[in-house]
Amino acid sequence: MRLGVLISGRGSNMQAIVQACQQGVVPNTTVAAVVANQQAATGVAWAAEQGLPTGVYPNKAYANRAAQEAAIIAFLQQQGVDAVCLAGYMRIVSPQFIAAFAGRVLNIHPSLLPRHGGPGMVGQAVHAAVLVAGDVETGCTIHWVTPTVDAGPIIVQQSVPVHPGDTVDTLAQRVLVEEHIAYPKALAMVAKGVVAPPAVVATL
Ligand code: GRF
Repeated sequence: MRLGVLISGRGSNMQAIVQACQQGVVPNTTVAAVVANQQAATGVAWAAEQGLPTGVYPNKAYANRAAQEAAIIAFLQQQGVDAVCLAGYMRIVSPQFIAAFAGRVLNIHPSLLPRHGGPGMVGQAVHAAVLVAGDVETGCTIHWVTPTVDAGPIIVQQSVPVHPGDTVDTLAQRVLVEEHIAYPKALAMVAKGVVAPPAVVATL
């Protein structure tokens, strides 16, 4: 399997995926491309140092999302990518993007979906919602991407306790450790054919 990993920031999940593929934790799989939608994504430099093909496609460099996605899809297809991992990618992908990879698009979300998911529930806002709700546990979810945000079939979940006195930062750190376990675990299931993507919604 040849993976394309999309990031918007430091890319620690991307790094965990690269290392899991190199170590054979995810069998017969390699990261063939790393894409960012902003120049400031520091994970791109790390990927380039690893010798991985990288591409930066800033939101503001394109008239609209469709034009940006067309450029990203072309690059990924040039690299022979057959599955895409969204890893801290801070833009919603279109149904056309999902269809371009036959539904083989995965995402990581830093809560136990369906709790604390949906539009706007990203990054620290998710952990803040967990604290406000008084949840005693949280975690992360790897799921197939469908046109409804954070609602695709769940592949793997890892949970952690919420401790009294936890802050958004202490929670984010505890969850991140599990994220780096969850994504390789989910990708190993995909590589072994244990799970398959949902049927793709026909796009106009
Ligand atoms: C992670 O917390 C992930 O759950 C969320 O965005 C963050 C990405 O972190 N989607 P990194 O760029 O992989 O370090």
